[in-house]
Amino acid sequence: MSSDIKKPIVFSGIQPTGGFQLGNLLGALKNWELLQRENFCIYSIVDLHSITVRNDPEELKLKITEAAAMLLALGVSPEKSILFIQSQVSSHAELSWILSCYTQFGELSRMTQFKDKSSKNPENVNAGLFTYPVLMAADILLYNTDLVPVGDDQRQHIEITRVIANRFNNIYGDVFKIPEGVYPKVASRVMSLADPKAKMSKSDPNKNARIMMTDENDAIRKKVRRAVTDSDNQIRRGIGKEGIENLMEIYSACTNKSLDCIESEFAGKNYGEFKNQVADALISLIEPLREKYKELMKDKKYVFSVLKTGKEKAMEISEVMMKRVNEAIGLGL
Ligand code: TRP
Repeated sequence: MSSDIKKPIVFSGIQPTGGFQLGNLLGALKNWELLQRENFCIYSIVDLHSITVRNDPEELKLKITEAAAMLLALGVSPEKSILFIQSQVSSHAELSWILSCYTQFGELSRMTQFKDKSSKNPENVNAGLFTYPVLMAADILLYNTDLVPVGDDQRQHIEITRVIANRFNNIYGDVFKIPEGVYPKVASRVMSLADPKAKMSKSDPNKNARIMMTDENDAIRKKVRRAVTDSDNQIRRGIGKEGIENLMEIYSACTNKSLDCIESEFAGKNYGEFKNQVADALISLIEPLREKYKELMKDKKYVFSVLKTGKEKAMEISEVMMKRVNEAIGLGL
């Protein structure tokens, strides 16, 4: 690990919300594997973030395991990187409290995700939902993080992390490194296959609206075939063509071809042909991940052993930072 120290440090987290969909994969997770080549990566299953909504305890345990298996299937390597469960490393909750004292009520009130989530779920607007970005800041700042790969929807959270870190540093000296967000270039917003004006979402009651990483090949093909398009029958971008544009974005993210290139590739072809190609591209992306995931879920002992090692390494690093923070403030005499 010592030779890795000079590499830029990447930190990212994902909530164990049960099942990953294509939006997660193309939005952020695709980068997680690639980033390991040139960085030292620390990846966390952020289970403390997921308890802002009620979960069944047994189900939550399963979702955490599934998330770990999926990340390993995606190519997160226990040899190169650290993979751990947030709640197992107590520094996260500890630093979160401290940072909350350096975060303004007004700043948290302006977070669009808080406004969204609280208006959608008015019967449980808990304080955890409100201070969610502070815990996220703690996650990131504990590890001297340089880069944070996330979806576009997390920009505001990265920004507030920087604000909090700078504020702390201005008082106590250079304690925290100021991290930067890394955002996907294409398909950072994969749209619903049933309503291309809405984001593809795991909670959509219409199962045909989304593609899950665990979908079998024929299900993937069926969903793509059923995807809502328009009657113009031309594969190009344009007003009223959100459905086709979404499929183009998905195809582009799977094949690394540009949208211009896709327009010329499919000039004169019909939607049926295009959808078949999109389905093929998706299947070649998802099939190997899905099969690897199934294998890992049959070998939970291995998954747990990876998480245990990850926990130990994460504790080692984060406890050093916790000590620095406490000393800076004048705590822990
Ligand atoms: N809020 C992030 C999301 O919903 C998850 C997250 C929690 C995270 N802590 C993090 C992402 C730290 C990056 C870094 O996607």
